[in-house]
Amino acid sequence: MGEDFAFPNRVLIAGATGGVGVHVVRRLQQLGVTCRVLTRDANRAAALGVAEIVQGDVLRPEDCRSAAAGCDAAICTVGEYRIPKDRPIVDGDGVINLADGVAAAGTRRFILVSSLGSGESWSWLPFFVKGYFHAMRARPILTAKTRSDAHVRALDLDWTILWPAYLTNRPMRSAPLLTEGRAGGTTSRQAVADVAVRCLASPSAIARTLVVVDHFMRVTLRRGGLFELDVPWEAWPPG
Ligand SMILES: NC(=O)c1ccc[n+]([C@@H]2O[C@H](COP(=O)([O-])OP(=O)(O)OC[C@H]3O[C@@H](n4cnc5c(N)ncnc54)[C@H](OP(=O)(O)O)[C@@H]3O)[C@@H](O)[C@H]2O)c1
Repeated sequence: MGEDFAFPNRVLIAGATGGVGVHVVRRLQQLGVTCRVLTRDANRAAALGVAEIVQGDVLRPEDCRSAAAGCDAAICTVGEYRIPKDRPIVDGDGVINLADGVAAAGTRRFILVSSLGSGESWSWLPFFVKGYFHAMRARPILTAKTRSDAHVRALDLDWTILWPAYLTNRPMRSAPLLTEGRAGGTTSRQAVADVAVRCLASPSAIARTLVVVDHFMRVTLRRGGLFELDVPWEAWPPG
């Protein structure tokens, strides 16, 4: 696939040590793309076998700017599951810093893994899912994602925002479903990574917010058909 489509040469991945991020790195490596990783934990990142590691924090704008310099594209999968008491939420300010750093470095392509429940999609969530967010006091994370999604859309970048549903660690068995309409259920982390990477060489995905769900979630599709990326799905080689 790498030879048939114009993938960027060097991609910055923020969040590479996380559940989605490790799959992003693995797939880019399979495609022969040079990976530069921005991480707080260089030792964990070293285990990924990536070419370039930048130790830093997305909450520090200067770290984002220096990490993005010289990259042709960026994929952001950062996030946190606990609300910090003493600093801003990474899903808001961290993502905004990263997007600003990417724009300042002159890197145009920016893929953001956000979440279903951000922005207007909050109102689409079933009652029990909203209840879960309230019970876990996790709504501020979605509020932060709403803010960073809006910020990214307003920048002069070739952005794509992905809204996965509930993330699982199931292996991806078939093509994930994408829509600009509504869908829900589950999304495997590998499926999110697969879509994020294919977006890099899919101009049709620019300036779009795409819901991503597992292939067996077709029954949840509402309003709007399926969206196809320019780069077709293919099974990943093992390993
Ligand atoms: N859980 C769900 O059901 C669900 C559903 C939809 C969307 N999402 C979203 O999907 C995204 C990926 O989820 P995931 O499960 O892969 O997350 P994860 O495993 O928790 O990974 C999060 C990554 O963010 C990085 N990170 C956190 N704070 C950082 C900081 N200050 N500076 C630099 N990097 C930082 C961590 O890297 P280091 O610690 O190495 O620095 C880690 O690699 C998240 O945005 C999440 O909110 C989740």
